Amino acid sequence: MNRRIAVFAVIALGVIGTSYSALRAQAERSVWDGVYSEAQATRGSTLFDKECAGCHGPDGEGGGMAPALSGAAFNANYDGQSVGDLFDRNRTTMPVGKEGQLNGQQVADITAFMLQVNKFPAGPSEMASQAMMLKQIKYLAQKPADR
Ligand code: HEC
Repeated sequence: MNRRIAVFAVIALGVIGTSYSALRAQAERSVWDGVYSEAQATRGSTLFDKECAGCHGPDGEGGGMAPALSGAAFNANYDGQSVGDLFDRNRTTMPVGKEGQLNGQQVADITAFMLQVNKFPAGPSEMASQAMMLKQIKYLAQKPADR
């Protein structure tokens, strides 16, 4: 009888522990965890060429009138914000003159391309096209020590 209870307790603790670390891992997801796919960034690159490069340069290195979307200054701006914040910025304020005209999927693809040019790793799945889900992914300029 007591042994049964003990076995049950061990299993229960294991389950709690596993879900706790899964939750923690999810809460701490960042741009360093492969949050977009290679294919998505490639689609984003085509869109970026068409919709953004005219002002921001082919790889977002910055043009005469528009700031760089890659490099140290850009990363400092977004450090500590979320991928959702960047997505919202792209979706609601860009492209200048055509604000809000790209759909969620297009903006997600462009945002994926921006993560790629900023040298964040790709992963197996695409990033979502809803800002709400992307708010859970932190934009961290520096790779966290435990990754
Ligand atoms: C007609 C020119 C023009 C086009 C096209 C354009 N932008 Fe911009 N963008 C600007 C200017 C000018 C600024 C700086 C003023 C501002 O923040 O609104 C800016 C700022 C930004 C910022 C903020 C940068 C920062 O450091 O906070 C982001 C992000 C951005 N653009 C993304 C995009 C994306 C993605 C596209 C294509 C979908 C795009 N832009 C198309 C002119 C443009």
